[in-house]
Amino acid sequence: MAKNKKPKTPPYSDIDLDHWKEYDHVWTDSLWQIDSRDRSGGHTLDYHGNFVPQIATQAYLRYTKENDIVLDPFLGSGTSAIEAARLNRRLIGVELKPDLVEYVRAKVPELLGDRIHILKGDSTLEQTAARVRETLAAMDADHAQLLVLHPPYHDIIQFSDQPEDLSNAPTLAGFLDLFETVARRGFDLLEPGRFAVLVIGDKYTKGELIPLGFYCMERMQRAGFRTKGIVVKNITGNEVGKGRDSNLWRYRALAGGYYIFRHEYVIVFQKPTSPTDIRQELLKVKSMPPWGRVQGDAWDRASRFIYSITGLNALRRETKRVAAELGLPVNDFGRYVIRRWYNFHTHQAALDIVLAHPRTRPEPDPFHHTVDFYLDEADRRSRGFDLKLTPLPKGFDHDIAYAQAHPEELARWLYAHQSTQGRFHAANRLFVVLYDAIDPKATWELRRDFPRLEQAIGDFLDQPHLMQVAFEDREGTQHQPTAGIIFCVRTPI
Ligand SMILES: C[S@@+](CC[C@H](N)C(=O)[O-])C[C@H]1O[C@@H](n2cnc3c(N)ncnc32)[C@H](O)[C@@H]1O
Repeated sequence: MAKNKKPKTPPYSDIDLDHWKEYDHVWTDSLWQIDSRDRSGGHTLDYHGNFVPQIATQAYLRYTKENDIVLDPFLGSGTSAIEAARLNRRLIGVELKPDLVEYVRAKVPELLGDRIHILKGDSTLEQTAARVRETLAAMDADHAQLLVLHPPYHDIIQFSDQPEDLSNAPTLAGFLDLFETVARRGFDLLEPGRFAVLVIGDKYTKGELIPLGFYCMERMQRAGFRTKGIVVKNITGNEVGKGRDSNLWRYRALAGGYYIFRHEYVIVFQKPTSPTDIRQELLKVKSMPPWGRVQGDAWDRASRFIYSITGLNALRRETKRVAAELGLPVNDFGRYVIRRWYNFHTHQAALDIVLAHPRTRPEPDPFHHTVDFYLDEADRRSRGFDLKLTPLPKGFDHDIAYAQAHPEELARWLYAHQSTQGRFHAANRLFVVLYDAIDPKATWELRRDFPRLEQAIGDFLDQPHLMQVAFEDREGTQHQPTAGIIFCVRTPI
């Protein structure tokens, strides 16, 4: 796959990585010292227990694109909803307290029922998750793209008298179980590969610090999330330790050996993209249309959504939407999209197989032009490889048996005859050469023949056979990259 066609935004944000120096307003440090509440977007400190709007702003800028859907199962006074409206994101919020539901609805009347949906309900219940799914469907989506979780800090503030309220959980274990239930429901409702942001502080009980933040983090991990960052954020505004009571708290701290809470946590998680999900979607593709006319950069740009979409239905919907928006011929564009999507995700699936082998390590920069992975730790510098899946090229003019007997000749041919569309490169490559000897026209299907790929790739990596391939490019420059060829061939049994 030609690397220069990858977008320069991460699949989950609008940050243009080509201009990353212009994003000073997006924080990447793990310590957030926020001077005051940002009131520019209509935020008021009118609800004890709300978070500062900057938390939502930062989460949205880094982990969502415009029009993405944020799910907040502990909506409270709706800080996340106001920020969603301000930054052009959509939102589904759930809140137990009817007065708060009405209060937030009144704050965003013009967006209600369209871009912002506020549900009254108990976020621990399956029936609430079902209503969220219905709401997603009404918004033409399968999943939310960001989960914001700001639960009660157990019993520090009692939000209501209702037993379903997490702040009324009789024990710490009971609170954590309810939190984990909400986390699991959120996990299911979140698009794979997307992020969750947990805002939580710790508490003291009977003279002992209870690290609620870490306990909740552990529950998030149990629910299937991977932790990406623990941010320590200072407490500002109305909390303890300020104003008239501050001397009393300081006295208590000195007398009892305590610390006064000045911070809470913003813990960031990612839902892994499950290889089985995408594999199943790839297996649903019935046929592979030809590329058709070369459309160049415009169609490439228009179809960037292929990188982040993992479901075929979502892909079809987005194809139609973009074709209508840009006035593109939907059938031609659809063929182009499906081909690009299939090639990209089968490449990723093959890369996952390569990376599952103990000899390999991933290249941490997903936008690296010429390296997907490293082979053998000891030789990290020289053995960065790009993975390339290709059918046995017709132009090679020899059959598969000949190619298998002369891998170096085939590698030289592949380097010298790179597609003119992609950026030419002479870096180290691991080629996976596919050929269906029973039905050559079905060779495209070998890209998703995962058991066969696992066997072929595993056998090769157990005992890699690497070659120095000398070749000359179109300008006559000499190159000598290191290459390997893995043959993945379907033959009559
Ligand atoms: C810490 S506050 C969230 C504040 C919010 N981030 C804001 O800025 O206004 C937690 C909220 O969760 C709500 N809550 C507690 N248990 C709930 C449950 N089981 N389902 C839905 N909401 C719940 C509480 O009523 C409270 O409003």
